[in-house]
Amino acid sequence: MSAYEDYETVSRCYDKFRHPIGAETELSALCALGKPLQELHIADIGCGTGNYTKYFLDNGVGKVSIFDASEGMLNCARVKVADYIAGGRVPHCQLLQLPNSIPGSAQYDAIFMNYVLHHFGCPEDNTATETFPKATAALRNVYEALRKGGYFIMSTSLRPQRDHCVWYHALIDDLDDLFKDPIMDLAFGGEYNTVERALTAIGFSSMKAIVPLHEIVMKPEHYYNMDAAFDPEFLLSDSTFTLVRQRDKETGDNGIKTFHQRVRALKERNEADAFMEKREVLRKTYGCATVIIAQKP
Ligand SMILES: C[S@@+](CC[C@H](N)C(=O)[O-])C[C@H]1O[C@@H](n2cnc3c(N)ncnc32)[C@H](O)[C@@H]1O
Repeated sequence: MSAYEDYETVSRCYDKFRHPIGAETELSALCALGKPLQELHIADIGCGTGNYTKYFLDNGVGKVSIFDASEGMLNCARVKVADYIAGGRVPHCQLLQLPNSIPGSAQYDAIFMNYVLHHFGCPEDNTATETFPKATAALRNVYEALRKGGYFIMSTSLRPQRDHCVWYHALIDDLDDLFKDPIMDLAFGGEYNTVERALTAIGFSSMKAIVPLHEIVMKPEHYYNMDAAFDPEFLLSDSTFTLVRQRDKETGDNGIKTFHQRVRALKERNEADAFMEKREVLRKTYGCATVIIAQKP
């Protein structure tokens, strides 16, 4: 279960806005395994509503086992890939709370974890010593469940990307404070080096990181429509807003109201298009997501 997000509620609207950013890059990475795609058995951990799962199956990956801690999210995935389940191409579709071990030890050709690591925070986390017991235990289990030569592949937004990866981050105060939980330093990598060190310590090698600059986090029809920001489901589809609400509770501020006022002000002053253009330049410079690929030697 996530340390701060209620995915049972989120599951009702996630797919309205989100799509599998970086999936094309991740699929290309699989080609380096040197086996035909249809012979691969991969696992999608924290599969959510199954957007990546479906992309991999639609594009020829033989088998995709899927796991998630949320019944609501997993049910959406189950419906989305029902035909593939019936056809035997989804050997496991089950609830799993990492760091519990992953069914099917040392068998997967690749294991994916997209936008999941930041949910593995625990009170013992320590940024200064780079100690993240729950996340490390989860990553060790991933390592164990991979076959020799297999890939661990994850997508995340690294720290330098965070301020620019979505337009609305520019309208939210003090993102550093918002993402202050130590786990964010691992998952969103204070920088890429933090993730690299953690994965290397577990035994992974041959790491690569790719930024698909052309891709955005949300479906374009919603992302470029600033009015979507007033849709409560939009706010549910990105856990940044959950963190804003959490901070509001702690401080008595109303960060969501301030955010909405800023969106309204841009529109009233006819500055929305210019604002979006400026944000686009930054987004296309930094990128929204980094796809990290590490190999079990
Ligand atoms: C932001 S969503 C990402 C979903 C999907 N990978 C995607 O990118 O579309 C995070 C997912 O991680 C799952 N999750 C959080 N903590 C988990 C845990 N301890 N074990 C397994 N899944 C977890 C949540 O239930 C949620 O579905």
